[in-house]
Amino acid sequence: MLHVKPSELRSYADTLRLASGRTLTVRFVEPEDAERLQAYFRSLARPSHYNRFLAAVQELPRSELERILKIGEERRFAVIAELNVDGRPAIVGEARYAFDRTMRTVEFGMSISDAWHRLGIGTALMANLECRAAAFGAERMFGEALRSNEPMIALARKMGFSFKNATDDWRLLRFEKQIGRAIEDIPCGGSRRVAAAYAVAG
Ligand SMILES: CC(C)(COP(=O)(O)OP(=O)(O)OC[C@H]1O[C@@H](n2cnc3c(N)ncnc32)[C@H](O)[C@@H]1OP(=O)(O)O)[C@@H](O)C(=O)NCCC(=O)NCCS
Repeated sequence: MLHVKPSELRSYADTLRLASGRTLTVRFVEPEDAERLQAYFRSLARPSHYNRFLAAVQELPRSELERILKIGEERRFAVIAELNVDGRPAIVGEARYAFDRTMRTVEFGMSISDAWHRLGIGTALMANLECRAAAFGAERMFGEALRSNEPMIALARKMGFSFKNATDDWRLLRFEKQIGRAIEDIPCGGSRRVAAAYAVAG
């Protein structure tokens, strides 16, 4: 099992260039991020929050937050996307993903701060998640969204996902994509380092 030590979390970060020229950092959530992450979730507009969690709660339960911080446990991971705003790093997005070793799939969910929608951050984060899925040798990645969630469905379509009914909830659509990328072809340094660590830890 890949359980990443807190002191090593930062070494798996990726730095991405947005179309605007801004630099987006995608990195594993660290223990020090807990309160900022909770503030990020609180700041999401109600529809965004509902689309992300399919529930009306505005804050993560403490136990859930603690689970998020255990990066790698049960092959579950959480990342934040940060931009420099007024000289300080600001969380503008987050994602969680889990690798199923038997099915060779990665399931993920994500959100971008409402104030930063339609600036290509969702696209960049999703592309980075593809790298992270490829790092485990996953063959497919998938997520689920409410049928009414047009932004997510449009984003997934743009990123080449195909759609089908979710198995156990009629309200949801599943979007899925084949990955099949060789480790050496992963275009994200942080994910190549994850791949190397995973190859050792299993
Ligand atoms: C879905 C979401 C992640 C998109 O993030 P984003 O940073 O705004 O996405 P991008 O700017 O990269 O947009 C990429 C493409 O997605 C589509 N898209 C995004 N928002 C859209 C909207 N409101 N309406 C229609 N299409 C939209 C467009 O095709 C867009 O490309 P374009 O801007 O060139 O037209 C964001 O709306 C979000 O966080 N929603 C709330 C949480 C959520 O729904 N999570 C899904 C559960 S997994």
